[in-house]
Amino acid sequence: MEVARAGKDSAALVFHQMAEIHREAISEGFLSSLGERFLTGLYRHLSGMEEAFAFVAEEEGRVLGFIVGALDTGSVYRSYARMGGLTAILNLAPKLLSPRRIARVMETVLYPGRKRDDGLPEPEILNFCVRSDQQGKGVGGALFHTLCTEFARRGVGEIRIVTGEGQVSAQRFYEAKGAVFAMKTEVHHGTASRVYTYQITRDA
Ligand SMILES: CC(C)(COP(=O)(O)OP(=O)(O)OC[C@H]1O[C@@H](n2cnc3c(N)ncnc32)[C@H](O)[C@@H]1OP(=O)(O)O)[C@@H](O)C(=O)NCCC(=O)NCCS
Repeated sequence: MEVARAGKDSAALVFHQMAEIHREAISEGFLSSLGERFLTGLYRHLSGMEEAFAFVAEEEGRVLGFIVGALDTGSVYRSYARMGGLTAILNLAPKLLSPRRIARVMETVLYPGRKRDDGLPEPEILNFCVRSDQQGKGVGGALFHTLCTEFARRGVGEIRIVTGEGQVSAQRFYEAKGAVFAMKTEVHHGTASRVYTYQITRDA
C-alpha cells in the first residue's frame, strides 16, 4: 500500500473512488445524499486546491481510503465556490427541491463562520474514510500519520476534528491516537457531532 497526495493531475478514477468510498463509509451523511457525481466533483476540486490537502492510500490502482485536511475551512469553501460553485449548483439543483435539503446546504455553508468563536483550533480534518472491507488493517493510521506530517510541515500545532455522534469507529480511532474530546455541537440542526482536538507533534 502507498499513501500519496491527490492533486489536480490525479486520474479521474481516483476522485471517483474517493466519492464511492465516502458514500459507502458515511452512507447516512448529508454529503452522501447529494450523490456520487457531486462528491466526485467535490474531491476533484479539494485535491486541486492550495487551501486543502488530500491524501489517498492506494494498492494496485485501487483507492483503499483517503483523508482531507485544511488550514482554514472558510477559505476552502470560498475557493470551492470560485472553482466549482456553478457546476455544483447545476449538479445539485434536482436534489435541492426540499426545504430540509436547502436548510442543510445553508448549515454547511455557514459552518466556518459559526465555529470561528469557539476557541478551538481552526485547522481541521475535513474528511477521513477507509473502505469498509479494508478497515482495521492500519490504512487509516497510515493516512492520519501522513496528514499530521503535512500539518506539522505547515507549522500547525493543534487541529480540530469533528465527528458525527454515530461515527463510533472514528471516535475510537481518534481517542486511540490521543485526541481529546472538546465539546458537542450541531453542524446540522438536530444531528449531534463531537469535536476533538489533537496535538500535532513535530515528529508526526
Ligand atoms: C475512522 C477510520 C477512517 C479508521 O480507519 P482504519 O483503517 O479502520 O484505522 P486503523 O486500522 O488504522 O485503526 C487504528 C486504530 O483505530 C482504532 N479503531 C479503528 N476502528 C475501530 C473500531 N471500529 N472500533 C474500535 N476501535 C477502532 C483502533 O484502536 C485501531 O488500532 P488497533 O488496530 O491497533 O487496535 C475508519 O474506521 C472509517 O472509515 N470509518 C467510517 C468513516 C468515518 O466515520 N469517518 C470519520 C469522519 S470524521
